[in-house]
Amino acid sequence: MIIPLIKNVPELLRFFFLVFISPFYNVYLSIRYGCLIHPFARISPRVKFGKGCVVGKSRLITYYGGRITVGKNTTVLEACEFFAHRGTHIKIGEDCMLAKRTIIMTRNHIFDDPNVRMVKQGVRNEDVTIGSDVWTGLDTKILPGVKIGDGCVIGTSAVVTKDIEPMSIAVGIPAKVIKKRGE
Ligand SMILES: CC(C)(COP(=O)(O)OP(=O)(O)OC[C@H]1O[C@@H](n2cnc3c(N)ncnc32)[C@H](O)[C@@H]1OP(=O)(O)O)[C@@H](O)C(=O)NCCC(=O)NCCS
Repeated sequence: MIIPLIKNVPELLRFFFLVFISPFYNVYLSIRYGCLIHPFARISPRVKFGKGCVVGKSRLITYYGGRITVGKNTTVLEACEFFAHRGTHIKIGEDCMLAKRTIIMTRNHIFDDPNVRMVKQGVRNEDVTIGSDVWTGLDTKILPGVKIGDGCVIGTSAVVTKDIEPMSIAVGIPAKVIKKRGE
């Protein structure tokens, strides 16, 4: 009885935080920034919001000096996961619409040397920048180092591996520009 309880301490702490602390913290953030944050969203302290943002039950997590900035009037729907690893900055512009399950990553594991176990080769962290007026479809995944220009549309299920020029519509894995908006 006691051993499984001890083993699950991190999970229990997470549960405790989610149920008893996060709703109050999210109300505080909503008032402070003039935005609307779901009570059970998980928001790290180094996340900043512009006025009028709406954030669903998502996880915006920063680790060891990582930062996340969400611009004015941007909507982050449910089940999105943004991970800003050590020293990185995830910057999202204004008036963006990030659909459910949009994932933003800032870390790759290094695997250059085939003779050394990957776990010993370290990691490479890179910023992700999303311009203003960007719409990402359901299940979009954005990889470390990527810059998405202003006014872009990213199709559902796309995996964005390279920079996308402003006003582009990009779809697929890897995401390729199929046309420009207004064409
Ligand atoms: C990206 C998107 C907006 C493009 O819409 P569109 O401009 O009307 O594009 P079309 O439907 O004319 O498609 C153009 C081509 O791209 C392909 N395509 C469109 N969306 C695609 C996607 N998500 N993945 C792969 N290919 C896609 C089409 O099959 C078509 O290919 P073809 O020319 O070989 O026939 C739309 O397909 C999409 O993905 N919307 C996201 C929906 C969503 O996530 N909604 C959540 C709301 S919050």
